[in-house]
Amino acid sequence: MITLPDKAGPIGIFDSGYGGLTILHGVRNLLPEYDYMYLGDNARAPYGPRSFDVVYEFTRQAVTRLFEMGCHLVILGCNTASAKALRTIQQVDLPTIDPSRRVLGIIRPTTEVIGKLTSTRHVGILATEGTIKSESYTLEIQKLYPDIKVSGVACPFWVPLVEYNEADSPGADYFVKKRIDQLMRLDSEIDAIILGCTHYPLLLPKIVKYVNPGIRIVSQGEYVAESLKNYLSRHPEIESKCTQGGHVEYLTTENPDKFRESAQLFLHEHVDVKNITLG
Ligand code: DGL
Repeated sequence: MITLPDKAGPIGIFDSGYGGLTILHGVRNLLPEYDYMYLGDNARAPYGPRSFDVVYEFTRQAVTRLFEMGCHLVILGCNTASAKALRTIQQVDLPTIDPSRRVLGIIRPTTEVIGKLTSTRHVGILATEGTIKSESYTLEIQKLYPDIKVSGVACPFWVPLVEYNEADSPGADYFVKKRIDQLMRLDSEIDAIILGCTHYPLLLPKIVKYVNPGIRIVSQGEYVAESLKNYLSRHPEIESKCTQGGHVEYLTTENPDKFRESAQLFLHEHVDVKNITLG
């Protein structure tokens, strides 16, 4: 067991890069009183095409670092990490790192609400290759709502478009349209599409351009926020370890200037960023 600071600390939010900022945004809207520590592993993004073992190892390193920096609760603001690393971290690593700390994923909160968001009972998932291949969404949704038909399409170029600040470029239209058309060809009765990658809300202006108006686009931020609020109310022993000052600290494994510039575009505010090394 490693020695970790026991005093209360910020809530950690981890993503491979900028995508988790959409989760941070949703969570801060609903729970602005807490302190947060955001960690983007931008130097090693994207995680989507990486193997199970690599995503697990990178995520374990990030979670351990957030614990060392004072977090008692870490949210994997990344579907790929939630699909490939969450269970092993919860079952294998937490008991040895510190059984009183918690790591939560973001797939469950989204699948829990989807039953209320579809009338046709045909749901689409757009996500990274890793998340689609893991079939996490299909399995979770079918456990809760066996009557829902789930179709998924991997969108390999979408994360680099966001990471390289090309989300608004004319080139992005091609890749966005291509994957939406592919999804709708799989099942034309889809009436709700889950953006199963936290980077994708940053492509929303392009996505709405190519999705039929009657189809609901489900971004995760607000549902993760609701679920976190509910979790904290049910777990006072964790809630009391989360400091409240409304402050956010940003960490990146890449160049802080690059992160600052991009984060400002996504969050519309100036952020102070520190560089850290993982691994
Ligand atoms: N934003 C992440 C997700 O939700 C990961 C994207 C990536 O690094 O490929 O899946």
